[in-house]
Amino acid sequence: MSQSAVKFNQTVLRDGHQSLAATRMKTSQMLPVVETLDGMGFNALETWGGATIDSCLRYLAENPFDRLRALKKLSPKTPHQMLLRGQNIVQYQAFPDDVVRAFVKCSMDAGMTNLRIFDALNDIRNLRTAIAATLEFGGHAQGAISYTVSPVHTIEAFVQMAVEFEGMGCQSVCIKDMAGLLLPRVAYDLVKAIKAKVKLPVSIHSHNTAGLANTAYYAAVEAGADLLDCSIAPFANGTGQPDTVLMEEILTGTGRAPTYDRDTLFDLQKYFEGVYKELGAYTSPDNERTDVGILRYQVPGGMMSNFLNQLKEQGMGDKVAEVMAEIPYVRQCLGWIPLVTPTSQIVGTQAMINVKMGRWKMIPQNTKDIVLGKYGKTPGPIDADVLKLVVDQTGEKPIEGRGADLLAPRMETLRQELTGKGLASDDEACVLYAMFPQQTEAVLNGTAKPEVKVAAPKVSDSSEISRARRVALTVDGIRKDVLVEEYK
Ligand code: CO
Repeated sequence: MSQSAVKFNQTVLRDGHQSLAATRMKTSQMLPVVETLDGMGFNALETWGGATIDSCLRYLAENPFDRLRALKKLSPKTPHQMLLRGQNIVQYQAFPDDVVRAFVKCSMDAGMTNLRIFDALNDIRNLRTAIAATLEFGGHAQGAISYTVSPVHTIEAFVQMAVEFEGMGCQSVCIKDMAGLLLPRVAYDLVKAIKAKVKLPVSIHSHNTAGLANTAYYAAVEAGADLLDCSIAPFANGTGQPDTVLMEEILTGTGRAPTYDRDTLFDLQKYFEGVYKELGAYTSPDNERTDVGILRYQVPGGMMSNFLNQLKEQGMGDKVAEVMAEIPYVRQCLGWIPLVTPTSQIVGTQAMINVKMGRWKMIPQNTKDIVLGKYGKTPGPIDADVLKLVVDQTGEKPIEGRGADLLAPRMETLRQELTGKGLASDDEACVLYAMFPQQTEAVLNGTAKPEVKVAAPKVSDSSEISRARRVALTVDGIRKDVLVEEYK
């Protein structure tokens, strides 16, 4: 069966800067090229969701719905795509169904059309409300499989998810490889297996963190994938998506290469090079390069840099290898949960505590909630000893049903709170306030200030250090070893 050209989703306005510039691209930096992007003929422009809503409110003093409306106004022809964390919306824990529904409705009223919906545990029950709302309000619901590698994450288990998505009315399926672990051969087999069972278009989302994404995309296309997420350099490659031009070239001769206007793509790249420089305080050479190191521990690239900092702050800079080796053990005990927001943070923190204090000597509340099923059903069984520890410590039994079933409706309470504060209390305000109360309040009452951060001059670049030596100093009666660096 011959297939037509593959189509690209353009991620530069969402995952591109989320992966390479800490989600700091401002609306004003997007607007000059939105009409151009709209004219390219992409399948969709990914413009919203993921960390962008948090970032708008917390760092940029922007109303995220205003951003979406402004972008949509300048790009009416192309569908807009967003990333939604199922019942967690764009936060780290579950919200009641009425808040999820209202959020989906508000997003679509503001111009959103394609909702890519996933759950960190791949628990389908956590996607139901968001998928149903998207379909009810006339949107495109894309069910996303959080791809990960473990003994319980088999091709058959992923295909079963795709079958369930089709049954729920989803119009497409996404293989969401947030850590960039998808090997070309696995991509091929997975797409083939899904295509054999469901009739839906298959979209691939990956990160080039380890350097695998371009070849995984190629293999997926050979197996019949329909859609690929690509970005535009310098907000592409490294920890971001494959570059649009490069991916098109890689597919040349397969009969499935798309033909997006090359001159315009180079103009866009030139424009984004300027934006990348403006965001220099948030970019890093570590994100620009590919690193096979992540294949060793299968930790998402986005998690790695924050996590290394966290270890250093805890005085555990010399324990990185031990903590990393502990991560697969913790994952196994917690039913092989995928590492994606928020489970990546929970597993990482538990691994750090296990190494520092001894295994399971201290269990934070988030870990307990995973064990008790509050985040959803784990892909594999919870370790029996860990389960007993948590049940003994909390006096609670694991829940069988869906975590959100325990949550009472909240929209009216949120509305009353906002009215009481003399703030806007429409549905948009309520759903933002539910997730980010202080930040939303500041944006609504006009006291929010954009964060100002300038790039620090890079003085400690190791290539500039000509000599480093240890000297002993006595400060306040305490002897210290100090590293003295001399610069060229
Ligand atoms: Co991503």
